[in-house]
Order: sequence, then C-alpha cells, then structure tokens
Amino acid sequence: MYAVQQIAPQIYWVGGNDRRLERFENMFPLPNGVAYNSYLIMDDKTVLLDTVDSSISALFLENVAHVLNGRPLDFLVVNHMEPDHCANIEQLVRRYPEVKIVGNQKTFQFIEQFYQMRLQQNFHLVQEGDELPLGRHTLTFFTAPMVHWPEVMFTYEKTERILFSADAFGSFGALNGNLFNDQTDFEGFYLDEARRYYTNIVGKYGAQVQAAFKKLAETEIRMICPLHGPVWRSNLSYILDKYQHWSQYLPEKNGVVLAYASMYGNTENVVNVLASKLSERGVTDMRIYDVSKTHPSYIIADAWKYSHLVLAAPTYNMGLYYAMDSLIREMAALQLQKRKVALIANYTWAPSVAVKAMQTLIGQMKEMEFIGTPFEIKSAMKPEQEAELDKLADAICASGAIE
Ligand code: FEO
Repeated sequence: MYAVQQIAPQIYWVGGNDRRLERFENMFPLPNGVAYNSYLIMDDKTVLLDTVDSSISALFLENVAHVLNGRPLDFLVVNHMEPDHCANIEQLVRRYPEVKIVGNQKTFQFIEQFYQMRLQQNFHLVQEGDELPLGRHTLTFFTAPMVHWPEVMFTYEKTERILFSADAFGSFGALNGNLFNDQTDFEGFYLDEARRYYTNIVGKYGAQVQAAFKKLAETEIRMICPLHGPVWRSNLSYILDKYQHWSQYLPEKNGVVLAYASMYGNTENVVNVLASKLSERGVTDMRIYDVSKTHPSYIIADAWKYSHLVLAAPTYNMGLYYAMDSLIREMAALQLQKRKVALIANYTWAPSVAVKAMQTLIGQMKEMEFIGTPFEIKSAMKPEQEAELDKLADAICASGAIE
C-alpha cells in the first residue's frame, strides 16, 4: 500500500524509510534507520525530484504511480547520482519511456557509468540558472558541486519557495510518520544524527557548502526538502546556523571530547582522572569515548560539536595504537580543523612514540592548536604525576574549554 504525504499544493513526498540497513554506505551504523526522500510535483507537467535506494523500490514505485494517478511522468530531476537516490532511474524509464531526465553533463556521465540501459534519448541537459516551467510552478537549477559529489544540483521551486537540497540539510534517522521538522523533537531525536550525517558524509566539503550558501544568499526559501530526514518548513534559521558552524569548522559549544585507546585500562584511567579534574574546574557536558568500542562516526560528530579534544593512546608495535591512528586519519580526511588538542600517551619501553605519531598526524590538519605539555605515563599513572596532570587540566580550561 502506498504511503505518501502532501507537502505543499500539488507537491508530494513519495519517499520511504529503511530500518533494516545495518550501515549507510556499508560504513556508518544506522541504529535509527534512514529515510530516502523523493518528491513529486503534479502540475501541467509532472516532475519527480530524485528517486530512492533500491531497498525500498517497490513502495517507491507504488507511491509514484498512486500520485500520478494514471498520468505519465514528464520529468525526472536527478539532483544527485549516488545510488541511495538514483537506484530507480532504469525502472522509471521502463514504466514511463517518454520521461525526460533532467541533469547536467556530470549527471549524465555518471548515469552512463552506473547503468546498462542506453538513456541518451531521455536526457534533458540543464545548466546553472536554467528554468523549467511546469505550469503554476517553475523550477530553477543551481549546481552545488561536491555537496556531496561533483554532479550535485539544488533545485528551487519559485511559487512555493522550496529548495530541493540533495544531501544538504539531511539527517540519518528514519522518519517516524512525522515528515516536517516542527512535528518532531528535532533536538532530542535528529540533531545528533544530522550532525553525524553532515560531518561524516559532507564534512570534508565545507568550502563547497559555503559556496552553495553564497549562491543562494538572495533566494527566499520557505521550505527545505533534503534527500534524507525531516523536511524543514519552519525555523529554517536554526538548521542554517548549524550548517554555518559545521561547514566553517566552528565548534557549536565549548567543551571537551576525550577519546582514548586503552589495552589494559591504564590509559583509560588517566582520562578518567583528567575528566574529573576538568569537571572540578567547571567544564561541563564532556564526552568520553573508547575508540576501540565506539564507531568513529560518533566521535567525529562530537569532535565537530565541541571546542577541545583530548586524545589518549598507548604505543603499539612501535607506532600508534591502530584504532587511534585510524580515528585521527579519518578526522584529517574529513578536514576537521580549528580545534584545541591535548595529548596523553602511554608506553612501557619506548618513550614518545605515540605522542610523536599523534603530533605528526594532527600537525597535518589545519589550525589545530596543541594545549599544554603532552602527558606521558610509563605503563600506569603514579600519584607523583598528579601535579603534572593538574597543569594539563589548567591549560585546557585556560584555553576556553569552559562554556
Ligand atoms: Fe544520500 Fe550523497 O547520497
């Protein structure tokens, strides 16, 4: 049975949810599922904006057929060619052979790379600023390269002032019946997942997100329709402000994320002692993670949220403990920058190896500031080192960790 919702006059959400998928892109855990949004405009011309992942094709095609109610599909706008949104292009062309596929040169290049069907006769090429009149509605196309792939477009509908924003403003987390942001507990349920989605999927491309914002600066937007998560129809400044922070790598709040690797609990112990000292000095809302247990996507999302990072790890095989090495490399790949970093290391017979490895990796990231002196323990922390750890706690607080 179809499951659709009207979002504006003549405009419908025809997407769906996947609560079974274990990992998005086979990498990021989805404990709350994920939504794949698609939108259908029923005007003099009928237009579908993006499709969905193959996991929900059957429901999606039923949704589209239900809303079309016997009419043909005139246009399919492909804002993003990643398979979680374009998996049904061939199916749609088989059902609606006259459909024009709206995209740019890159879109069509990727369609030919991904699919076997010859679709050139269906292509409708658009360029920056081109308009597509539908009757009461008119679509305008803006390229938004690398938000998140090079072919990405935003589509703007002039009459209702709707921005169809591809991956931008999306979130992990299935839709629980409520489609609009103001029908949900966004801060309670979606915000952490929106941040985890942005930082891990689009995080590297902050400059490109900023460029897209500048392009749309003069455009009045009343509704934002992303390809994942809730549709924004109120309080748009809230999510725009979050995106300003995230895309400029500015922390949302002062605070400390303490991420540790620990084989036998001794490095973990230092982190717990330091966290207590920070708490005594007034730091609130700290997050402590064991990098061997928590998926890096969660730690990275919080590294984006807070101003300070404490990284603690032992030496391993005369190098850095693998999970910590991997976490820092992932942060660097995503271009995390502008954070204050304190280091803790542990060794039994090879001093400074882990400290130097962390310093080297973080030194390659932009505008990262080391705080205090790296705190090293020899196998386990001893009471005589407490004063030195107090100094590190003082330095972290003096550098702005207190909200
Ligand atoms: Fe939701 Fe870049 O795909």
